[in-house]
Amino acid sequence: MTQQDELKKLAAEEAVKSVKSGMVLGLGTGSTTKFAILKIAELLKTGELKNIVSIPSSIQTEKLAREHGIDLVTFNEYQEIDLTIDGADEVDPNLNLIKGGGGALLREKIIAQASKSVIIVVDENKLSDSLGTKWHVPIEVVPFAEQVESKYLQSIGSTVRTRVDDSGNKFITDEGNIILDANFGELQDPLSLARKLESRAGIVEHGLFIDLASKVISANENGVKLFTK
Ligand code: A5P
Repeated sequence: MTQQDELKKLAAEEAVKSVKSGMVLGLGTGSTTKFAILKIAELLKTGELKNIVSIPSSIQTEKLAREHGIDLVTFNEYQEIDLTIDGADEVDPNLNLIKGGGGALLREKIIAQASKSVIIVVDENKLSDSLGTKWHVPIEVVPFAEQVESKYLQSIGSTVRTRVDDSGNKFITDEGNIILDANFGELQDPLSLARKLESRAGIVEHGLFIDLASKVISANENGVKLFTK
């Protein structure tokens, strides 16, 4: 395991300490959350955790959870989640986030908004004084609107790339949309940018998670740090 993976595991396993038997969990997506899912599966196997049901935030997470014997449910059965554990691409001092590096931002945001508590797990490299300095803003767009929204994003000051997958084809999200990766540089006012993006018909959702994280757990070589508001 790389040193960065060790840190991801440390942060993720610290978050799992907040999981209690009987909870409805939201499972995030990505290489950090994966360690939380594996730990939850382990605790279910040993019987230290019981009666947990989970709602996954992506097909990738659904597959992983299923493979490890975690019981999955949908919003059909539960419309409120007790606790969600998820990763992030960039975290600012107000616990605002950029997410969507893995393309799961839409379902992740739906899950975060349906959760009583959201714990974000990161290695220390994701901490940032100001959003936009370490990561671009992933923006989920309906395919019909690609060129129009791309032009709009450029008009408000970003450079834009349509995300492609490993085969060079347009990346398609679990909800059948494309991702425009918009680089605005340092974001002076993430909230007002979020509002602007939300005003566009072709933009389904964006990766700015404002005021959605309850706690952030970050890890470095000296251990874990907990940030709350
Ligand atoms: C998925 O779309 C993302 O929001 C991830 O949660 C985020 O990219 C963090 O992923 P890693 O833990 O793999 O860095």
